This record gives sequence, C-alpha cells and structure tokens, in this order.
Amino acid sequence: MTDEKSTLPNTVDFDHRSATFAEDPIPFYDTVLQRDSPPFSPHHEGFWVAARYADTVRIGRDPVTFSSEKDLDGTGRGPQFGGVLIPPWPVAPGVGELDGDEWVAFRRLIAPHLAPNVVEKLRPMISNYATSIMDRFIASGKADLVGEFTGPVPAIVTMEMMGLPLDNWPLWAKAMHAMLALAPGVPGFEEAFAELMRLSDNLLIGIGKRRAELADESEPSTQDMLSNFVTARIDGKPIPDEEVLAHLINVIVGGVDTTTSLTAHALLYLHRNHAAREMLRADPSKIPAACEEFLRYYSPAPAQARTLTADCTIGESAMKEGDRVLICWAASNRDPAAFPDPDEVKLDRSPNHHAAFGLGPHRCPGSHLARVEFEILLAEVLRRIPDYVIDESELQMYRDRGVANGVLSLPATFTPGAVIGKPLAL
Ligand code: HEM
Repeated sequence: MTDEKSTLPNTVDFDHRSATFAEDPIPFYDTVLQRDSPPFSPHHEGFWVAARYADTVRIGRDPVTFSSEKDLDGTGRGPQFGGVLIPPWPVAPGVGELDGDEWVAFRRLIAPHLAPNVVEKLRPMISNYATSIMDRFIASGKADLVGEFTGPVPAIVTMEMMGLPLDNWPLWAKAMHAMLALAPGVPGFEEAFAELMRLSDNLLIGIGKRRAELADESEPSTQDMLSNFVTARIDGKPIPDEEVLAHLINVIVGGVDTTTSLTAHALLYLHRNHAAREMLRADPSKIPAACEEFLRYYSPAPAQARTLTADCTIGESAMKEGDRVLICWAASNRDPAAFPDPDEVKLDRSPNHHAAFGLGPHRCPGSHLARVEFEILLAEVLRRIPDYVIDESELQMYRDRGVANGVLSLPATFTPGAVIGKPLAL
C-alpha cells in the first residue's frame, strides 16, 4: 500500500505514535484539518487520516464499509484487518474490534452494566472511594494527583463494576498506564506488555473459578459483568474463557485510563486558570458542561482506526478495499466548521456535539460512567483542596499520545486538610 500511495499529491507526514507528535499534537491536527480531502500518511504501512468532523461522522456511522475487525493471523478476513489501532495492538479482539452480529452479541453483554440508570446508582460508591482515596494524602499537603487520585478512583470503580478482585486495582492501573503511555519500541514498553500478559493469565484463572462457582446456581446471585459473561450463552453456547478475557480487557482499557487522563487535563487547566477554577468551585452545577468542553478540547482517546471493506471516495481521496483509515476524533473536535473558535476553551460551550466518545455504533458505552466519575473527582478536589498548585517543572505527559492523550504525573501542593471518610482496606 505504501509504495504506490506515497507518490499521491495529498500525502502528509503524520505519525501519531511519534515523539514529535506526543510533544505537541496540535500542529499535526491543524495540518490535516487544512486539507480538503483526507490525506494519506506513509507511516506504519500507510493509512488515510480522517480529520474533518463531517468525515469522522460519515466513517464512524458506516461500520459496513469501515470495519473495526481485527484478524492478526489472517485466518478470517485477512491480516490487513488490524482492528482499531495503528499499528495494531497484539492482543485478541474485544468488543471494540468486532463487526456485525458478533459485535451486537458482546455489546449487549457489556452496555447494560454502563447504562445511565445503572451508573446513577453507583454515585454513592464512587463518592466514597473519592473521599477515602483523598484521605490518604490530604493531611500531607502534597500529592501526585494522577498517581494518587485520578488514577486510583476510576481503576477501583472499574474493578468493582466488573466484579473483579478489588485489591488488584494498582496492578491493572499501573500496567494500563504504562502500556498506553509508551509507544511500541520505546524502552519500558516490552516490560509493560509482559506485565499485562501476566495479569491476563491471572484473570483467566479467575474467570475459570467464577464459572465453576456459578455452575451450580440456576439463578446467579451476583449480577456483575464477569458473572454475566460466564453464565451467558451466545447461539446457545457458553463463551470460552479466552474470549471472556479479551472482552474484559477491552473494558478495563476503557475504564482505567481515559477518565484518569480527562480529569488530569482538567486539573492542569484549572491550575492555570484561576477564574475558571473559582467559577466551578462556587457553582458545581457548571461542572457537567465544563466536562463536555474538556472532553472536546483534550480528547483523551484521540483516534481509532478502521479497515475498508470496499472502495470508497471521500472528497478527492480514492480509498481502496483493504486500506486503513485513522479516524482522528481529536482533530475533528477542533474543526472550525463544527466548533466556532475551536482553540478556545469555553466551559459553557453550547451546543457541544464533540466526538470524544466516538460516533456511530461503536460509540463509547462507558460515557455515562466517565462523566459521573469526572464530576465526582473534580468536585472532591474543588471542595477539599481548592488551592492546589501544580509543580509544572515536574509535569510529565505520556510519551505516546496517539492512542491515549494522558498525563503521567501531576505533582501538587495544597493546604493540608482533615480526613473525613472511612479508611480503605485496599
Ligand atoms: C473520558 C473517558 C472515555 C473516553 C474519552 C472514551 C472514548 C472512547 C471512544 C472514542 C470509543 C470508540 C472507539 C471506536 O469507535 O473504535 C470508545 C469505545 C469503548 N469504550 Fe470508551 N471512553 C471513555 C471511558 C470509558 C469507560 C469508563 C469504559 C468502561 C468502563 C469504556 C469502555 C469502552 C468500550 C468497551 C468501548 C468499545 C465499544 C464498542 O466498540 O462497541 N470507555 N471509548
């Protein structure tokens, strides 16, 4: 694909996994947004870049032409079906990397656990965790707000919602942040991947155990996600343990990293913008609208890929069956045709139809949980450590910001406060 296409007039030097991109993705987004048709990048064996809002809507909503499927060993549709990451993630496909009826079956197992009415009932649990986790450092007057707050709470909540052992949260959080913060080939990536495999092996054992525990129960007493998976039937057959594992890992990736990054970016923005911080502190009812703008502006999951199942022309770009295309949600969230003054953060922006959760059938089923977690985390900070100051000299972003736009650490100081919650045994 590369040789023939790298001579196209509409090529672009766009490598979303590079260190230059991670330093500052904005100029890359601006470059692709200036093109009338999706440009072609020769990196990673070649892919088209869809940046304009109208193009991401069109591609996101057409899963038949733009497939999410991953078939790494080529036994199905062919190895060019690399799933939703460029380059592909070398793990078995979860719900995000399936199409058609198979996707429908698994989405139906996951989505009910993340539905708005279910998530609303989780509020007290999430608030209690946020309070108890902050209790651990509030008296000291300093903390890494990512490592000690925005990381732990979503990780524990994800474990709880899924019915996984709660005391494993630090291992999963560490492995996921390391995997997503580093690009393949960068020092530390191999170790992070090996740790993820080790955790997966343990989870596989846990899946087997839960299946055995529930085998004798005609009406399962637990209704968490893991229990649902091991008791479910698809086409009358139970789901093999290895497949359950792949789907659970997909949910863990979604649940553990993105909300952490969103909240970390918001805390950094509010450190730099005191008036905005004071406005949200004085009136927390403004947090939900601000959350949407932080989602638009920082787009924690900046891009996902698709593979073409048929030829398709967008603008002047003639894409062929088997080509790969990167849907750049982060760029489309800065498209001036969809968002007036896109470079400005307007915390009361309305309307704000951002694409940060994706568009179309694969749109994020965890969006309600992410919003509620964000709201609770930010409100806790503004209520209990409102004068926090970030030490920007020690600030670290992810080394790879093409898959996850994350913050590695956010060292802060603040006026020490009182412990008010119940101690956590985790
Ligand atoms: C700020 C937080 C979040 C952001 C920005 C985000 C972003 C996204 C995006 C852009 C997609 C679409 C992928 C595609 O079209 O290929 C997606 C899918 C998904 N997300 Fe999220 N997500 C967030 C939180 C969560 C949470 C909390 C969970 C679960 C606990 C979750 C689980 C998933 C799953 C399972 C999918 C695959 C859905 C499918 O393909 O049908 N996400 N997410």
